[in-house]
Amino acid sequence: MNLRGRHFLKLLDYSPQEIEYLLELSADLKDKKKNHIITEYHRGKNIVLIFEKTSTRTRCAFEVAAFDLGIQTTYLDPAGSQFGTKESVADTARVLSGIYDGIEYRGFGQEIVEELALYSKVPVWNGLTNEFHPTQMLADLLTIKEHFGTLKGVRLTYMGDARYNMGNSLMVACAKMGMHFTACTAAEYFPAAELIEECRAIAAETGGTITLTEDTEVGALGAQVVYTDVWVSMGEADEVWGKRINDLRPYQVNENIMSKADKEAIFMHCLPAFHDTKTVIGQEVFEKYGLTEMEVTDKVFESAQSVVFGQAENRMHTIKAILAATL
Ligand code: CP
Ligand code: NVA
Repeated sequence: MNLRGRHFLKLLDYSPQEIEYLLELSADLKDKKKNHIITEYHRGKNIVLIFEKTSTRTRCAFEVAAFDLGIQTTYLDPAGSQFGTKESVADTARVLSGIYDGIEYRGFGQEIVEELALYSKVPVWNGLTNEFHPTQMLADLLTIKEHFGTLKGVRLTYMGDARYNMGNSLMVACAKMGMHFTACTAAEYFPAAELIEECRAIAAETGGTITLTEDTEVGALGAQVVYTDVWVSMGEADEVWGKRINDLRPYQVNENIMSKADKEAIFMHCLPAFHDTKTVIGQEVFEKYGLTEMEVTDKVFESAQSVVFGQAENRMHTIKAILAATL
């Protein structure tokens, strides 16, 4: 398997075999990290991390993964460069790819990262767009595989806003790996029809399935992975909160939902999560709408079924695999 020079923009661009290879490489790099084995395979290289939206996990994972591989990083924060305001995407791509060996981009439309890749001479990695979050997918697949020993046939139910980056990406990831994906949410929040169709065609080849339901009884029943994400994503207007809470409240992952899922089910979340009022936004929502927890209850989040922190750690091991393989 040779992925040198490849961009990592969305999982749709990768075959199941390539994804499997990246997962195996991630597991190997994780093992080496735990055993303090040096992995400076790319010593002397430099990468740039463009973040037009904030981040904890993705930025830290890219930086630590890079350092462990012997790579130096430059971080460009949302206000720290000319990107987009004074310099076009195409010009930025050509400037940065003359200086760096790779470019990470987190921001808004998928078309931006696709354009960066089009004009870049070096690999471009998508660190989250409105539509897709592919580095998160590798971490999630690794976590599921570690837990169940396999991906094929695993039943994953996603509750909440399924038409944004996480719902879209999980549907693609499940289809690619022969898993059973269910989007359980109000119909308005199902992924776009075109993407569903594309994923169903992929699933037909891999043995996976795609189910859409508004019924939480149907969605929760027998799920082995119950997954949710924030109801309002970065970059969305504050005005959407009221309607979003109203629409998605029935799809909160709580003890009732988990009791209907498989007995061995795990709970997953890409994080950050609103499971209490210990954040500025959590407190504001409590004051305005009276909710103390949103997409997941504190009880489920803190339960033995919750694997969210191991999942977050896996961001680093899997991003390291992407860097190691594509540079
Ligand atoms: N899950 C994730 O991408 O987290 P950050 O926004 O903190 O990077
Ligand atoms: N849907 C979330 C994911 C955060 C990792 C967002 O885009 O804000």
